[in-house]
Amino acid sequence: MSHWPYPRIVAHRGGGKLAPENTLAAIDLGIARGYKMFECDAKLSHDGEIFLLHDDTLERTSNAWGVAGEMSWDVLSKVDAGSWFGKAFAGEPLALLSDVAERCRQHTVMVNIEIKPTTGLETQTGKVVALAVQQLWAGMATPLLSSFSVEALAAAQLAAPGLPRGLLLDEWDDNWQELTSRLGCVSIHINHKLLNEKRVAALKAAGLRILVYTVNRPERARTLMQWGVDCICTDNLEQIGPGFGA
Ligand code: G3P
Ligand code: MG
Repeated sequence: MSHWPYPRIVAHRGGGKLAPENTLAAIDLGIARGYKMFECDAKLSHDGEIFLLHDDTLERTSNAWGVAGEMSWDVLSKVDAGSWFGKAFAGEPLALLSDVAERCRQHTVMVNIEIKPTTGLETQTGKVVALAVQQLWAGMATPLLSSFSVEALAAAQLAAPGLPRGLLLDEWDDNWQELTSRLGCVSIHINHKLLNEKRVAALKAAGLRILVYTVNRPERARTLMQWGVDCICTDNLEQIGPGFGA
């Protein structure tokens, strides 16, 4: 089984449901609440800057609209990614991956960077993110990369083979062992609804670590931990705290 330095509880999209997702405000909130690791979604601007955004488009989580990956960072940097969530976050900008690295350095926290490519940019995003992570996190705890995109993971593997990778699954795939082995994954990041005790045992027997998302019921988190899951990624920062299950 691979070396696994990551804590048991991971704050989803920075600060769960308590702040606008994937912003520095969310990450700061998670850190203030004592979380030692957070997850965030990274993609490329048209001019190659790496920033945080879950969707391909801006409308759900900002005051702007359109495909973010078709815009330059100069345009994206002026977007308000906080007002949609609440007045207290008005003017909160989109976050650059370099700012995320700075937070990790300042506060000694870890990160799971989900490579979330704009459709069509899978290979380029995997490569650019992996190379940037290698530089930005030099001398710090290594981020855990993950993606639903096999192409992005393969590109990350080629560009920076030493970075740990996890395959994301939102549907069960009987081919998981071949896929994770080919991509050199240390972990599988899986929708917890797809798991039962037998599947957890099979994944672990194959030497994989398991991160489950998005687990918001404490009872369910306890069950998954009993089955042997390594990491719980949660939006419920009120009830699943950083020391949950310890
Ligand atoms: O990485 C875990 C989780 O974030 C994957 O789903 O859609 O929330 O990015 P999503
Ligand atoms: Mg994500």
